[in-house]
Amino acid sequence: MIHYSRTTLAQNLTVALQGKALFGDAHNGLFLAAPRRTGKSTFLQGDLRPVLEAAGVVVVYVDLWSDQRRDPALLVADAIGRALSLKLGLLAKVARKAGLENVSIAGTLKIDTSKIGRIDGLTLSEALRTLHETAKAPLALIIDEAQHALTSEAGEAMMSALKSARDQLNRPGQVNLMLVMSGSDRDKLLRLVNTNGAPFFGSQITRMPELDQHFIQHVASLIEAQRPDLKPVDQQTLLQAFEKFGHRPQFFMEALGQALSPLSGLTGRFETAVLAAANQKQSDDERQMESNYLGLKPLEQAVLWRLLEQGARFRPYDAEALRFYKEKTQTAVSPQKAQNALEALRERNPALVWKSARGEYSVDDAAMHRWFQQCVQHGTWPPQVPGQAQHELGLNEDAED
Ligand SMILES: Nc1ncnc2c1ncn2[C@@H]1O[C@H](COP(=O)(O)OP(=O)(O)O)[C@@H](O)[C@H]1O
Ligand SMILES: [Mg+2]
Repeated sequence: MIHYSRTTLAQNLTVALQGKALFGDAHNGLFLAAPRRTGKSTFLQGDLRPVLEAAGVVVVYVDLWSDQRRDPALLVADAIGRALSLKLGLLAKVARKAGLENVSIAGTLKIDTSKIGRIDGLTLSEALRTLHETAKAPLALIIDEAQHALTSEAGEAMMSALKSARDQLNRPGQVNLMLVMSGSDRDKLLRLVNTNGAPFFGSQITRMPELDQHFIQHVASLIEAQRPDLKPVDQQTLLQAFEKFGHRPQFFMEALGQALSPLSGLTGRFETAVLAAANQKQSDDERQMESNYLGLKPLEQAVLWRLLEQGARFRPYDAEALRFYKEKTQTAVSPQKAQNALEALRERNPALVWKSARGEYSVDDAAMHRWFQQCVQHGTWPPQVPGQAQHELGLNEDAED
């Protein structure tokens, strides 16, 4: 396993989070977006966390995708609770030995020694303040796939609680609670910051830089060290392949491993084979999306089409939308029918549509937007069942009941 460290990026972000950068407002919350599998979690845990810790910050990391069945608010509470019990554990032991039921922290907060580690009873912001005061250090709370919090009301309330904890703990020149939120989908993450009443209204979303030619350089130098016969490695072709793989290291490394394997039977250059694998992967991904789309009922297709076309402006049941569905399916569509179709799209496995607790919709996988735009550009939208003309579509499939 190769890990390419991105220490400089982690250091720059740490400075910004501490409020020491000249510009920007990362000290109010840093929102990082990048597509799935491009290395966000790896960076947050493997690079950012150690750099923050080296700067004396207590880091709590939680991935809201780690257990999709549990409420996101509980996942965050648990992570804070665990950090708290780690810090308080010793204190509590001493207190219990001395027969004390409560421990006082920093002379103000009283904590029930039997309840340490659970933050029911303690509010989220009290728990964070307690953690800060016992650790006598600034905290960073890293919430990975933070947009998932918006799918539950408790999760939304938790986000508002975090904001108020931030406002209570931080003062000009002293950042005691740093918040880092990552997301695989910029549109969804935006809902935390861009509507009136959104928990972090006014904050900016930053695109997390993808792994780039320095990553390729690193990989190339490892190959050259191990296989001098392959010198010089064609970095340009490898970079091109990596970009085709959507900057996703895992697929790139797999293809590289196969091309370099003594069992590959390859006669030409391995870089060319990796590039060919990247092209293959890209067309496989597109074919998969196309077949998912073609497998839908006509109304589901129309709703998904509308969602892809409208993006954040999507309103599922307005007159325009209903007209659109009617035009595409050639049957009258009631709001109830449209809602059923949306629910069906959400309940598929994997889900095609995402819904927030406030009833906002988005495609589940942002890669679909790129695919849609590409098809529109090339005049190949909507996808066709092979051998079927466009005007036949929707007419010879079962009508929605
Ligand atoms: N810096 C890196 N160096 C090498 N491989 C990486 C790096 N970052 C990510 N990867 C690989 O890419 C895969 C996906 O990364 P991950 O951090 O889970 O992405 P994300 O959180 O954006 O979905 C990981 O399994 C890992 O193998
Ligand atoms: Mg991740």
